Parts: sequence; C-alpha cells; structure tokens
Amino acid sequence: MSETLIETKNLTINFGGLKAVNKVSISIHKGLFTTIIGPNGAGKTTLFNLISGLLQPTEGTVIFKGTDITRLSPMQRVAMGIGRSFQLTNVFPTLTVHENIRLALQAKNRTGYRIFTSYKRFRSLEEAATKLLEDVLLHDRGNFLAGSLNHGEQRKLELAMVLALKPDVLLLDEPTAGMALEEVPTMLELLEKTKKEQDNTILLIEHKMDLVTKLSDTVIVLVNGSVLTRGTAAEVSEDPEVLKAYLGGGILNETTA
Ligand SMILES: Nc1ncnc2c1ncn2[C@@H]1O[C@H](COP(=O)(O)OP(=O)(O)O)[C@@H](O)[C@H]1O
Ligand SMILES: [Mg+2]
Repeated sequence: MSETLIETKNLTINFGGLKAVNKVSISIHKGLFTTIIGPNGAGKTTLFNLISGLLQPTEGTVIFKGTDITRLSPMQRVAMGIGRSFQLTNVFPTLTVHENIRLALQAKNRTGYRIFTSYKRFRSLEEAATKLLEDVLLHDRGNFLAGSLNHGEQRKLELAMVLALKPDVLLLDEPTAGMALEEVPTMLELLEKTKKEQDNTILLIEHKMDLVTKLSDTVIVLVNGSVLTRGTAAEVSEDPEVLKAYLGGGILNETTA
C-alpha cells in the first residue's frame, strides 16, 4: 500500500447532541482515487470540513503526512498541500476566467509553498493559466467574465483553481452537483484525467454511487456519521448493508430518477 497522506483517528463532531461525524478513522493513500459515498446528511461535507480545518472536532485527530494538523487553520493546511475548493468561492465574477486563474496561481506564490517550482517550465503566469484552462476544457472561455459562466463551467473553473494550488491531495465535494445531466460525463472524465495524467491523489465526495464506481480505486461508505464499510466500488455496491442504507437514504431513487 502506498504512503498514507491523510489519516483521521476517532474523528467526532457533536452539533448540539447530533454526532454528524462519529468516531471516523480512515486513511487516504497517495496516488489513489478515494470516494466517500453516503446518503444526504451522512456527514460527508462535515468530514471534509474537519479535514480541511473549517471545523474543529469535538474529539479525535487529523494527521497529514505524519503531522498532527488538528489545530491548524484552513490556510495552514492549504499551505501544507491540502487543496479544497472552499477558498475558491473567491471566484471574482467581474474578472475574466483567465484573470481568476492567474490570481489563484499568484495566491499560491504568496503562501511561499513550493514557490513556482511546479511552473518553472512556463515562461509566465499567462502560460501557466492558459495550460490550466486547457486542462479543464475552458480554453475557449478565458476571456469571458467568470460571472457569466454556466454552472458546469463554474465547477470546472473551481477545479482549475484547486489545481493551481498544486496540492498533494484534492478534496472535491460533489463536483457534479447542480450540473446539467449531459455535463456530468465531461466532469467525470476530467477527474479521471486529472488523476491519471498528473498522478494526483483525489478524495471525492459523491452521494450517487453509480457516478463514481468507474473512477474510484477505493470507496468509503459513510452512514449516520460513521464508516459503514470500505472496499472497491464493486465490493461496496454488492454489500447488502450498503444497499439497505442506500434505500433508507433514498439514494437509489435519486440515482435512477
Ligand atoms: N453547522 C452545523 N450545525 C448543525 N448541524 C449541522 C451543521 N452542519 C451539518 N449539520 C448536520 O449534520 C449532518 C451531516 O451533514 P452533512 O455533513 O452536510 O451531510 P452530507 O454532506 O453527507 O449530506 C446533517 O444532519 C446536518 O443537518
Ligand atoms: Mg454534503
């Protein structure tokens, strides 16, 4: 098994009596595409917030590359290499798509984290930004105002902005949410390409199991704040306990709708 990048131990958060995340101990391995699935309200986003530092746990620890980061701020975690799109809600709608990407690249420069080593081969920020736009299939949108993009394009821009950080691990919370149905396969292919070509480590949240079976090396099933099981997509999709939880959470209905 490859190096463990992220490890949580007994991670728990209590929202006034509700244990939204309850004693979650998982490990995320370098180079793998790991997906967390589970019904709405299972605690997936809360778990991401605990890993990225937006929330502090009631109990338990988060370890990144062997270091306890439980008390570090979200920005400190980004600087260490945990890339998550929440800070990219800083998309500036009145700037162009290209300008937004350039700002993301510059923001990374300011963190002092691996300053530009990854982009040395580009003559300028311009070129690096153009390359990123090509990677996420937004090359023909560079001069559009970010605010004018449709929903699917915005999700691609968000992905490009996380990629600009060159993180060691990408945390993506339902990147297909709100997308038109016909746009979903493109986004999934993009994720697959991102993982394969750039050897990225991806931690994806998705509640629709059928979307991720093809992409994931390993799947963690979260139900009522706890890990129900972990395995390959094939293993978990045949697990009667998982199917029961899915039916209970209405996921199958949503998926087939
Ligand atoms: N800030 C909060 N305060 C109180 N309850 C919350 C908060 N955030 C999430 N919850 C509750 O925690 C549970 C898990 O939510 P969430 O992590 O968003 O689930 P998922 O992402 O799996 O749909 C839900 O019952 C939700 O209502
Ligand atoms: Mg969620």
